[in-house]
Amino acid sequence: MRVVLVGPPGAGKGTQARALQSTFGIPQISTGDLLREAVREGTPLGKQARTYMDKGELVPDSVVVSLVAERIQKPDCTKGFLLDGFPRTIVQADAIAAELDRIKQQLDAAISIVVTRQELVERLSGRWVCRSCQAMYHERFTPPRKSGVCDACGGELYQRTDDKAETINARLEVYERSTAPLLSYYRERALLHDIDGMGTPEAIAQRITTTLKSLTPQSVA
Ligand code: AP5
Ligand code: MG
Repeated sequence: MRVVLVGPPGAGKGTQARALQSTFGIPQISTGDLLREAVREGTPLGKQARTYMDKGELVPDSVVVSLVAERIQKPDCTKGFLLDGFPRTIVQADAIAAELDRIKQQLDAAISIVVTRQELVERLSGRWVCRSCQAMYHERFTPPRKSGVCDACGGELYQRTDDKAETINARLEVYERSTAPLLSYYRERALLHDIDGMGTPEAIAQRITTTLKSLTPQSVA
């Protein structure tokens, strides 16, 4: 199953993609995570990406399209994938559709996670992420058992540099301007499913799972 998760910063794309990986036996592909890894490693791509990410702007389409086109050809994507944070523009959506067409595949669904703006800001400003395994926590909603330490692997938790108040606002504006048009794009192609993104992560995962299973009952356990 090939699924795109669309939603503003803080909607829970990463949280949900991580949870759905094991349900459907397909990997999460987060362009944000791939770019942050490149930044950490100090590669030329990471150095270029950082200048955009620190300001909350989008990294150029050509850069992320190449990253994803390469990633979806890895063996773990044979049964499908969950794209988290990609595509972010119509150009990216057209590019991935063309790439999938070329390798004789197609998207099965675009899941739109719908959350109020107030909740988005609250989720982002309290987010902590594990440096080692990227597990996500929230200081109020889903705190780790021990402050600053990942429950899953014992790694150190950190706050993303783009989760500062002014960068959160910039990211939300970029979403409205460049990414929200994707909702009509996928609706016109009969791929869009709106999911209520309010409530516990478990309740939202259940809503998405029910929707995806209703689409392809033969491909899931
Ligand atoms: P990216 O990493 O994709 O960030 P984003 O889209 O801004 O989204 P977030 O990761 O902030 O939010 P999320 O929806 O994943 O929410 P999460 O699950 O973490 O991109 C970062 C940057 O990289 C971009 O600004 C851009 O520069 C660049 N980039 C990436 N992709 C690109 C692309 N395709 N093109 C160009 N540039 C690109 O949840 C947030 C918090 O809420 C967590 O603390 C979590 O624990 C908590 N939470 C989650 N669900 C719930 C719930 N149900 N109830 C309570 N709390 C919850
Ligand atoms: Mg994310």
